[in-house]
Amino acid sequence: MDEKKKVIFSGIQPSGNLTIGNYLGALKNWVKLQDEYDCYYCVVDLHAITVRQEPKELRRRTLEVLAIYLAAGLDPEKNTLFIQSHVPAHSEGAWLLNCFTYLGELGRMTQYKDKSQRYGDSISAGLLNYPVLMAADILLYNADLVPVGIDQKQHLELTRDIAERFNKLFSPTFNIPEPYIPETGTKIMDLQEPTKKMSKSADNPNSYILILDPPDVIRKKISRAVTDSLGTVKYSDEQPGVKNLMTILNALTGMTMEQIEKKYEGQGYAQFKLDVADAIVTELEPIQKRIKEILDDKEYLENIYKKGAEKANYVASKTIRKMQKKIGFIPR
Ligand code: AMP
Ligand code: TRP
Repeated sequence: MDEKKKVIFSGIQPSGNLTIGNYLGALKNWVKLQDEYDCYYCVVDLHAITVRQEPKELRRRTLEVLAIYLAAGLDPEKNTLFIQSHVPAHSEGAWLLNCFTYLGELGRMTQYKDKSQRYGDSISAGLLNYPVLMAADILLYNADLVPVGIDQKQHLELTRDIAERFNKLFSPTFNIPEPYIPETGTKIMDLQEPTKKMSKSADNPNSYILILDPPDVIRKKISRAVTDSLGTVKYSDEQPGVKNLMTILNALTGMTMEQIEKKYEGQGYAQFKLDVADAIVTELEPIQKRIKEILDDKEYLENIYKKGAEKANYVASKTIRKMQKKIGFIPR
């Protein structure tokens, strides 16, 4: 008998250009999961508007992120790929769950605390409620596993707390999801300040490599990546810049750290950096070509997100009805 596959849910916000951090830390892993799991991958545009977005840019980026999902190898036949705002259950579910979430819990979220420092009193209520929307995303599909970076772990813990509270208050409704954090190797660091995570929002473009950076830009950025004066390719916390470049090479080529150390023994950094840049270009060039092709074929893209939304809508609205019934709303 066919055993029911476990469910995975994850999403990326269309709020900036995606980096190789997103690719190596998220997308490349998602592709590996598509056969074994029933996966929902969403472009979380409702989350993106928690900070100001230019409407035209938001539209462009939303489609671009979806094209990147596809070009990275996510098969629309195997995965449910969709745009969050196309499934109204996400907004509805977030409201319902908001009423079972405490202000204290939300105020304790590190991401909110960081952002509220930046925006002060004019921080949007959306930023406070952001993790509740994320909880709705996950719980509506009864996800078992949620692949996220370590920075999102706290939001996932809150999701579990909200789910448990709802289950206890009414009756078992939600599956309690587990985080699925890729092994340590895949956190990609800032190329200029290699003790910080590579982020699309860094001020200096030399800090990150975008999935859509042209080959000459990639080569230039890698040649400028901060290393150290030790001159040996060694996987060590004392050499965070070199360690990061090794992580990238390992993630792209599968070479182990020992193999990399051995290959570049006694050679300084020049050839090592050239090879890291080459590995990135080799990986990204075909993906970039696919992204352009997909974006040029709006009909293909439209077909995929419509089909995805239909499937997601079916599953998510069933969960909403279940929640409404338990809460005490009159069935429609
Ligand atoms: P974000 O860009 O922060 O919205 O993250 C989207 C997804 O990409 C999350 O699963 C992150 O954990 C992952 N991600 C973002 N930046 C990095 C990075 N520098 N290294 C590894 N994974 C990352
Ligand atoms: N908050 C996540 C991030 O910034 C994006 C996200 C929204 C998400 N909803 C989700 C991730 C549900 C996993 C599951 O990375």
